[in-house]
Amino acid sequence: MITDLIRSNLRGFKPYSSARSLYQKGVFMDANENSLGSVINESIDNELNRYPDPYSLDLRKALGKFLGISEKNIFVGNGSDEAIDLLIRLFVEPDEEIIIMEPTYGMYKVAAEVAGVAVKNISLTSDFQVDVPNLLSQINSKTKIIFCCSPNNPTGTLIKPEELEKICGNFRGIVVVDEAYVEFASKPSLIGKISSLENLIILRTFSKAWGLAGIRVGYAVAQEAPIEYLNKIKPPYNLNRVSSKIAIQALQQYPKMLEFKTLILREREKLALELTKLGFKVFPSEANFLLVRYPNASLIAKKLAEDFGIIVRDFNSKPKLENCIRISIGTPEQNQLLIKNLSSII
Ligand SMILES: Cc1ncc(COP(=O)(O)O)c(C=O)c1O
Repeated sequence: MITDLIRSNLRGFKPYSSARSLYQKGVFMDANENSLGSVINESIDNELNRYPDPYSLDLRKALGKFLGISEKNIFVGNGSDEAIDLLIRLFVEPDEEIIIMEPTYGMYKVAAEVAGVAVKNISLTSDFQVDVPNLLSQINSKTKIIFCCSPNNPTGTLIKPEELEKICGNFRGIVVVDEAYVEFASKPSLIGKISSLENLIILRTFSKAWGLAGIRVGYAVAQEAPIEYLNKIKPPYNLNRVSSKIAIQALQQYPKMLEFKTLILREREKLALELTKLGFKVFPSEANFLLVRYPNASLIAKKLAEDFGIIVRDFNSKPKLENCIRISIGTPEQNQLLIKNLSSII
Protein backbone atom coordinates (compact mmCIF):
# COMPACT_ATOMS: atom_id res chain seq x y z
CA MET A 1 0.00 0.00 0.00
CA ILE A 2 1.32 3.40 -0.96
CA THR A 3 0.04 4.88 2.31
CA ASP A 4 2.58 2.71 4.14
CA LEU A 5 5.26 4.92 2.57
CA ILE A 6 3.96 8.06 4.25
CA ARG A 7 5.98 9.26 7.24
CA SER A 8 4.77 7.33 10.26
CA ASN A 9 3.84 10.46 12.23
CA LEU A 10 1.64 11.68 9.35
CA ARG A 11 -0.30 8.49 8.65
CA GLY A 12 -3.28 9.39 10.81
CA PHE A 13 -2.69 13.10 10.33
CA LYS A 14 -5.55 15.45 11.17
CA PRO A 15 -5.21 18.48 8.87
CA TYR A 16 -5.61 22.06 10.01
CA SER A 17 -9.25 22.86 9.65
CA SER A 18 -9.45 26.17 7.82
CA ALA A 19 -12.57 28.35 7.94
CA ARG A 20 -13.33 27.83 4.27
CA SER A 21 -12.89 24.07 4.43
CA LEU A 22 -15.74 23.96 6.95
CA TYR A 23 -18.23 26.28 5.20
CA GLN A 24 -18.12 27.38 1.56
CA LYS A 25 -21.41 29.33 1.47
CA GLY A 26 -23.06 31.89 3.76
CA VAL A 27 -22.43 35.22 5.44
CA PHE A 28 -18.77 34.84 6.27
CA MET A 29 -18.01 36.07 9.78
CA ASP A 30 -15.59 33.28 10.61
CA ALA A 31 -12.18 34.04 9.11
CA ASN A 32 -11.39 37.58 10.26
CA GLU A 33 -11.43 38.81 6.69
CA ASN A 34 -12.37 42.41 5.84
CA SER A 35 -16.11 42.11 5.19
CA LEU A 36 -16.30 45.65 3.76
CA GLY A 37 -14.29 44.68 0.74
CA SER A 38 -10.80 45.04 -0.67
CA VAL A 39 -8.72 48.14 -1.33
CA ILE A 40 -8.06 46.69 -4.78
CA ASN A 41 -10.74 46.20 -7.42
CA GLU A 42 -9.40 43.38 -9.48
CA SER A 43 -11.54 42.53 -12.48
CA ILE A 44 -10.54 38.88 -12.54
CA ASP A 45 -11.81 38.40 -8.97
CA ASN A 46 -14.02 40.82 -7.09
CA GLU A 47 -13.82 39.02 -3.75
CA LEU A 48 -10.20 39.59 -2.91
CA ASN A 49 -11.23 40.25 0.69
CA ARG A 50 -12.19 36.57 1.00
CA TYR A 51 -9.89 33.57 1.38
CA PRO A 52 -9.76 31.24 -1.63
CA ASP A 53 -11.19 27.72 -1.78
CA PRO A 54 -8.63 25.75 0.26
CA TYR A 55 -8.85 22.79 -2.13
CA SER A 56 -8.95 24.79 -5.40
CA LEU A 57 -11.75 22.57 -6.68
CA ASP A 58 -12.65 24.68 -9.72
CA LEU A 59 -9.10 24.61 -11.00
CA ARG A 60 -8.64 20.92 -10.20
CA LYS A 61 -11.88 20.10 -12.06
CA ALA A 62 -10.81 22.20 -15.04
CA LEU A 63 -7.43 20.48 -15.07
CA GLY A 64 -9.10 17.09 -14.69
CA LYS A 65 -11.24 17.79 -17.74
CA PHE A 66 -8.20 19.03 -19.66
CA LEU A 67 -6.12 15.96 -18.78
CA GLY A 68 -8.95 13.43 -18.91
CA ILE A 69 -8.58 12.37 -15.27
CA SER A 70 -10.43 12.97 -12.00
CA GLU A 71 -9.74 16.02 -9.84
CA LYS A 72 -9.06 13.46 -7.09
CA ASN A 73 -5.84 12.65 -8.93
CA ILE A 74 -4.64 16.26 -8.96
CA PHE A 75 -3.00 18.40 -6.29
CA VAL A 76 -2.47 22.06 -7.16
CA GLY A 77 0.21 24.12 -5.53
CA ASN A 78 2.00 27.42 -5.39
CA GLY A 79 4.26 26.40 -8.28
CA SER A 80 5.50 22.83 -8.67
CA ASP A 81 8.24 23.87 -6.24
CA GLU A 82 5.62 23.68 -3.49
CA ALA A 83 4.75 20.12 -4.52
CA ILE A 84 8.45 19.13 -4.44
CA ASP A 85 8.75 20.46 -0.92
CA LEU A 86 5.53 18.84 0.30
CA LEU A 87 6.36 15.46 -1.26
CA ILE A 88 9.62 15.31 0.65
CA ARG A 89 7.90 16.32 3.86
CA LEU A 90 5.10 13.83 3.28
CA PHE A 91 7.19 10.75 2.56
CA VAL A 92 10.77 11.04 3.79
CA GLU A 93 11.58 10.34 7.43
CA PRO A 94 14.57 12.25 8.89
CA ASP A 95 16.86 9.21 8.63
CA GLU A 96 15.83 8.36 5.07
CA GLU A 97 17.11 9.71 1.75
CA ILE A 98 16.09 10.84 -1.70
CA ILE A 99 17.90 10.05 -4.94
CA ILE A 100 18.53 12.68 -7.57
CA MET A 101 20.28 12.29 -10.90
CA GLU A 102 22.62 15.19 -11.51
CA PRO A 103 22.98 17.36 -13.41
CA THR A 104 19.34 18.19 -12.73
CA TYR A 105 16.97 20.82 -11.35
CA GLY A 106 18.43 22.19 -8.13
CA MET A 107 15.30 22.38 -5.99
CA TYR A 108 15.08 18.64 -5.19
CA LYS A 109 18.35 18.91 -3.30
CA VAL A 110 17.51 22.25 -1.70
CA ALA A 111 14.09 21.06 -0.50
CA ALA A 112 15.62 17.87 0.92
CA GLU A 113 18.37 19.77 2.70
CA VAL A 114 15.86 22.21 4.20
CA ALA A 115 13.87 19.21 5.45
CA GLY A 116 17.06 17.69 6.94
CA VAL A 117 16.91 14.71 4.61
CA ALA A 118 19.94 13.08 2.96
CA VAL A 119 20.44 13.34 -0.79
CA LYS A 120 22.15 10.63 -2.83
CA ASN A 121 23.32 11.60 -6.29
CA ILE A 122 23.45 9.00 -9.04
CA SER A 123 25.02 10.81 -11.97
CA LEU A 124 23.45 10.71 -15.38
CA THR A 125 25.60 9.01 -18.03
CA SER A 126 27.98 11.08 -20.20
CA ASP A 127 25.17 11.63 -22.71
CA PHE A 128 22.82 12.59 -19.85
CA GLN A 129 20.76 9.38 -19.82
CA VAL A 130 19.49 7.62 -16.71
CA ASP A 131 21.73 4.66 -15.88
CA VAL A 132 18.88 2.42 -14.74
CA PRO A 133 20.91 -0.62 -13.59
CA ASN A 134 23.23 1.64 -11.56
CA LEU A 135 20.26 3.54 -10.13
CA LEU A 136 18.50 0.34 -9.08
CA SER A 137 21.70 -1.01 -7.53
CA GLN A 138 22.04 2.11 -5.35
CA ILE A 139 18.58 1.84 -3.81
CA ASN A 140 18.62 0.72 -0.18
CA SER A 141 16.16 0.50 2.70
CA LYS A 142 16.59 4.23 3.38
CA THR A 143 15.69 5.35 -0.15
CA LYS A 144 12.23 6.91 -0.14
CA ILE A 145 11.89 9.10 -3.25
CA ILE A 146 13.66 9.05 -6.63
CA PHE A 147 13.38 12.34 -8.51
CA CYS A 148 13.52 12.07 -12.32
CA CYS A 149 13.26 15.24 -14.35
CA SER A 150 11.95 14.65 -17.90
CA PRO A 151 12.72 16.64 -19.99
CA ASN A 152 15.61 17.21 -17.66
CA ASN A 153 16.69 20.70 -16.70
CA PRO A 154 19.41 21.62 -17.74
CA THR A 155 20.27 18.78 -20.14
CA GLY A 156 17.00 18.69 -22.11
CA THR A 157 16.89 14.86 -22.11
CA LEU A 158 13.85 12.60 -21.69
CA ILE A 159 13.41 9.43 -19.70
CA LYS A 160 12.02 6.53 -21.74
CA PRO A 161 8.63 5.11 -20.63
CA GLU A 162 10.09 1.61 -20.38
CA GLU A 163 12.89 2.90 -18.13
CA LEU A 164 10.38 4.62 -15.89
CA GLU A 165 8.34 1.42 -15.65
CA LYS A 166 11.45 -0.51 -14.74
CA ILE A 167 12.33 1.98 -11.99
CA CYS A 168 8.78 2.08 -10.59
CA GLY A 169 8.47 -1.70 -10.72
CA ASN A 170 11.77 -2.34 -8.94
CA PHE A 171 11.48 0.29 -6.22
CA ARG A 172 9.21 0.18 -3.19
CA GLY A 173 9.36 3.96 -2.69
CA ILE A 174 8.01 6.94 -4.60
CA VAL A 175 9.13 7.91 -8.11
CA VAL A 176 8.55 11.57 -8.94
CA VAL A 177 8.76 12.54 -12.61
CA ASP A 178 9.02 16.29 -13.04
CA GLU A 179 7.52 17.17 -16.42
CA ALA A 180 7.85 20.96 -16.17
CA TYR A 181 8.96 21.10 -19.84
CA VAL A 182 6.96 18.21 -21.30
CA GLU A 183 4.87 20.42 -23.60
CA PHE A 184 8.04 21.02 -25.66
CA ALA A 185 8.97 17.34 -25.88
CA SER A 186 8.62 14.99 -28.83
CA LYS A 187 7.03 12.33 -26.59
CA PRO A 188 3.79 12.69 -24.60
CA SER A 189 3.46 13.11 -20.85
CA LEU A 190 3.64 10.00 -18.68
CA ILE A 191 0.42 10.95 -16.88
CA GLY A 192 -1.27 7.97 -18.56
CA LYS A 193 0.91 5.65 -16.45
CA ILE A 194 -0.55 6.90 -13.19
CA SER A 195 -3.42 4.40 -13.12
CA SER A 196 -1.09 1.40 -13.40
CA LEU A 197 1.90 2.65 -11.35
CA GLU A 198 0.90 3.20 -7.74
CA ASN A 199 4.21 4.78 -6.75
CA LEU A 200 4.41 7.29 -9.62
CA ILE A 201 3.84 11.00 -9.07
CA ILE A 202 4.03 13.43 -12.00
CA LEU A 203 4.72 17.15 -11.60
CA ARG A 204 3.52 19.72 -14.13
CA THR A 205 3.47 23.50 -14.22
CA PHE A 206 1.93 26.57 -15.83
CA SER A 207 5.31 28.33 -15.59
CA LYS A 208 6.88 27.23 -18.87
CA ALA A 209 4.87 26.54 -22.07
CA TRP A 210 1.79 28.35 -20.74
CA GLY A 211 3.86 31.46 -20.06
CA LEU A 212 2.55 31.91 -16.53
CA ALA A 213 5.60 31.72 -14.27
CA GLY A 214 4.36 34.86 -12.52
CA ILE A 215 1.15 33.34 -11.15
CA ARG A 216 2.92 30.39 -9.45
CA VAL A 217 0.69 27.44 -10.29
CA GLY A 218 1.99 23.91 -10.53
CA TYR A 219 0.39 20.53 -9.92
CA ALA A 220 1.02 16.93 -9.02
CA VAL A 221 -0.81 14.04 -10.64
CA ALA A 222 -0.97 10.68 -8.88
CA GLN A 223 -3.29 8.03 -7.52
CA GLU A 224 -5.83 9.30 -5.00
CA ALA A 225 -4.09 8.40 -1.74
CA PRO A 226 -0.98 10.61 -2.09
CA ILE A 227 -3.10 13.48 -3.46
CA GLU A 228 -5.38 13.24 -0.44
CA TYR A 229 -2.36 13.43 1.87
CA LEU A 230 -0.78 16.35 0.00
CA ASN A 231 -4.05 18.21 0.51
CA LYS A 232 -3.94 17.37 4.22
CA ILE A 233 -0.44 18.71 4.87
CA LYS A 234 -0.38 21.77 2.59
CA PRO A 235 -0.78 25.29 4.01
CA PRO A 236 -4.54 26.05 4.29
CA TYR A 237 -4.88 28.47 1.34
CA ASN A 238 -1.79 27.62 -0.70
CA LEU A 239 -3.19 28.78 -4.02
CA ASN A 240 -4.55 32.32 -4.25
CA ARG A 241 -7.85 33.31 -5.89
CA VAL A 242 -6.31 35.31 -8.73
CA SER A 243 -3.81 32.66 -9.81
CA SER A 244 -6.42 29.97 -9.65
CA LYS A 245 -8.76 31.89 -11.96
CA ILE A 246 -5.99 32.80 -14.39
CA ALA A 247 -4.95 29.14 -14.59
CA ILE A 248 -8.55 28.13 -15.42
CA GLN A 249 -8.69 30.81 -18.13
CA ALA A 250 -5.33 29.62 -19.45
CA LEU A 251 -6.68 26.13 -20.10
CA GLN A 252 -9.27 27.69 -22.40
CA GLN A 253 -6.38 29.22 -24.35
CA TYR A 254 -4.86 25.84 -25.24
CA PRO A 255 -4.50 26.75 -28.96
CA LYS A 256 -2.48 29.82 -27.96
CA MET A 257 -0.13 27.63 -25.92
CA LEU A 258 0.30 25.37 -28.96
CA GLU A 259 1.15 28.43 -31.08
CA PHE A 260 3.84 29.42 -28.57
CA LYS A 261 5.15 25.89 -28.56
CA THR A 262 5.38 25.75 -32.36
CA LEU A 263 7.24 29.04 -32.52
CA ILE A 264 9.61 28.08 -29.70
CA LEU A 265 10.40 24.71 -31.31
CA ARG A 266 11.08 26.43 -34.64
CA GLU A 267 13.35 28.95 -32.94
CA ARG A 268 15.07 26.19 -30.96
CA GLU A 269 16.00 24.49 -34.21
CA LYS A 270 17.22 27.70 -35.83
CA LEU A 271 19.22 28.72 -32.77
CA ALA A 272 20.80 25.26 -32.50
CA LEU A 273 21.90 25.52 -36.12
CA GLU A 274 23.37 29.01 -35.70
CA LEU A 275 25.19 28.04 -32.49
CA THR A 276 26.60 24.94 -34.16
CA LYS A 277 27.88 27.15 -37.01
CA LEU A 278 29.64 29.30 -34.41
CA GLY A 279 31.41 26.21 -33.12
CA PHE A 280 29.28 25.47 -30.04
CA LYS A 281 28.52 21.88 -29.13
CA VAL A 282 24.73 21.92 -28.88
CA PHE A 283 23.15 19.10 -26.88
CA PRO A 284 19.85 17.76 -28.26
CA SER A 285 16.97 19.38 -26.38
CA GLU A 286 13.37 18.36 -25.70
CA ALA A 287 12.68 21.60 -23.81
CA ASN A 288 12.56 25.37 -24.33
CA PHE A 289 16.29 25.81 -23.77
CA LEU A 290 19.57 24.65 -25.24
CA LEU A 291 22.52 23.38 -23.27
CA VAL A 292 25.68 24.30 -25.17
CA ARG A 293 29.40 23.83 -24.64
CA TYR A 294 32.25 26.08 -25.74
CA PRO A 295 35.76 26.72 -24.39
CA ASN A 296 35.66 29.41 -21.69
CA ALA A 297 31.85 29.44 -21.71
CA SER A 298 31.75 31.20 -18.33
CA LEU A 299 33.68 34.10 -19.76
CA ILE A 300 31.35 34.26 -22.75
CA ALA A 301 28.30 34.29 -20.43
CA LYS A 302 29.87 37.09 -18.39
CA LYS A 303 30.65 39.17 -21.48
CA LEU A 304 27.15 38.61 -22.87
CA ALA A 305 25.68 39.98 -19.64
CA GLU A 306 28.09 42.83 -19.04
CA ASP A 307 28.62 44.10 -22.58
CA PHE A 308 25.26 43.31 -24.17
CA GLY A 309 22.77 42.82 -21.34
CA ILE A 310 21.94 39.28 -22.47
CA ILE A 311 21.66 36.89 -19.56
CA VAL A 312 22.23 33.16 -19.97
CA ARG A 313 22.78 30.57 -17.24
CA ASP A 314 26.34 29.47 -16.56
CA PHE A 315 26.66 25.80 -15.50
CA ASN A 316 30.43 25.54 -15.73
CA SER A 317 30.88 24.77 -12.02
CA LYS A 318 28.42 21.83 -12.05
CA PRO A 319 29.56 18.23 -12.41
CA LYS A 320 29.58 16.99 -16.04
CA LEU A 321 28.80 20.52 -17.27
CA GLU A 322 32.25 21.96 -17.68
CA ASN A 323 32.15 24.90 -20.12
CA CYS A 324 28.39 24.63 -20.47
CA ILE A 325 25.81 27.37 -20.55
CA ARG A 326 22.04 27.05 -20.80
CA ILE A 327 20.21 29.37 -23.14
CA SER A 328 16.43 29.78 -22.89
CA ILE A 329 14.84 30.19 -26.33
CA GLY A 330 13.90 33.82 -26.78
CA THR A 331 11.82 35.70 -29.34
CA PRO A 332 13.15 35.57 -32.93
CA GLU A 333 14.63 39.06 -32.40
CA GLN A 334 16.28 38.10 -29.09
CA ASN A 335 17.75 34.97 -30.62
CA GLN A 336 19.17 36.95 -33.54
CA LEU A 337 20.67 39.48 -31.17
CA LEU A 338 22.22 36.67 -29.14
CA ILE A 339 23.85 35.15 -32.22
CA LYS A 340 25.10 38.53 -33.44
CA ASN A 341 26.67 39.36 -30.08
CA LEU A 342 28.04 35.86 -29.57
CA SER A 343 29.82 36.02 -32.91
CA SER A 344 31.36 39.35 -31.99
CA ILE A 345 32.58 37.98 -28.63
CA ILE A 346 34.00 34.84 -30.21
C1 LIG B 1 12.44 20.98 -13.80
C2 LIG B 1 11.73 22.06 -13.09
N1 LIG B 1 10.78 21.74 -12.22
C3 LIG B 1 10.09 22.67 -11.54
C4 LIG B 1 10.38 24.01 -11.73
C5 LIG B 1 9.62 25.00 -10.92
O1 LIG B 1 8.39 25.21 -11.49
P1 LIG B 1 7.31 26.15 -10.81
O2 LIG B 1 7.48 27.50 -11.43
O3 LIG B 1 6.02 25.48 -11.18
O4 LIG B 1 7.56 26.15 -9.33
C6 LIG B 1 11.36 24.40 -12.62
C7 LIG B 1 11.67 25.81 -12.82
O5 LIG B 1 12.61 26.22 -13.43
C8 LIG B 1 12.05 23.39 -13.32
O6 LIG B 1 13.03 23.70 -14.19
